[in-house]
Amino acid sequence: MKRVAVFASGRGSNLSALLRDQAAYDSYRVALVISNVPGSGALNLATEASIEALLIPSRGIERSTHESLVLAALQSRSIDIVCLAGYMRVLGSAFIDGFKKPILNIHPSLLPSFPGMHAQKQAVDAGVRWSGATVHFVDGGLDSGPIILQEPVEVCAEDDEDRLSSRILQAEHQIYPRALDIVARGVYRLQGRVVRF
Ligand code: GRF
Repeated sequence: MKRVAVFASGRGSNLSALLRDQAAYDSYRVALVISNVPGSGALNLATEASIEALLIPSRGIERSTHESLVLAALQSRSIDIVCLAGYMRVLGSAFIDGFKKPILNIHPSLLPSFPGMHAQKQAVDAGVRWSGATVHFVDGGLDSGPIILQEPVEVCAEDDEDRLSSRILQAEHQIYPRALDIVARGVYRLQGRVVRF
């Protein structure tokens, strides 16, 4: 059973999805939630679920100081996998290299299209017919690591950012627990940038 830390800055609906499915998959347990935002929904959800909730603020704090506090928290709790779920702070290579274990992220587009902020608005503005959700490993770049799972979502003519976001969010909630289960069971191998099952 892999011990998972979820990093979240906002409401935490992906955290909820990971918690919802953890008993069914039985390969991972969310043991820790870390947020950099005081009073975030994710911290409240963790407390309600009796999971350790840690606030490690990042605003106005030097990156190296913040990341070493986070790393120490992970190491002291024997965390095996980190899941970023709406964590609005880019993690530097010192953190990624220091952790040395899988770090996953969920992104609301079919990467490599529309990395970065407001991915759903980028999709609407670009006029694509399909967008979706991607779970990928985190590397040093922006939403650029090897892709684990993707789920397409059709973009409808009447979609605006909010409407598309809510449908993509439902897809996110399906694929994030599945991708985490694959990584937790270790039933994949990395061939270059390609994740093979
Ligand atoms: C999701 O859309 C996720 O893809 C993005 O941030 C949002 C977080 O939503 N990285 P929530 O806090 O999990 O509800």
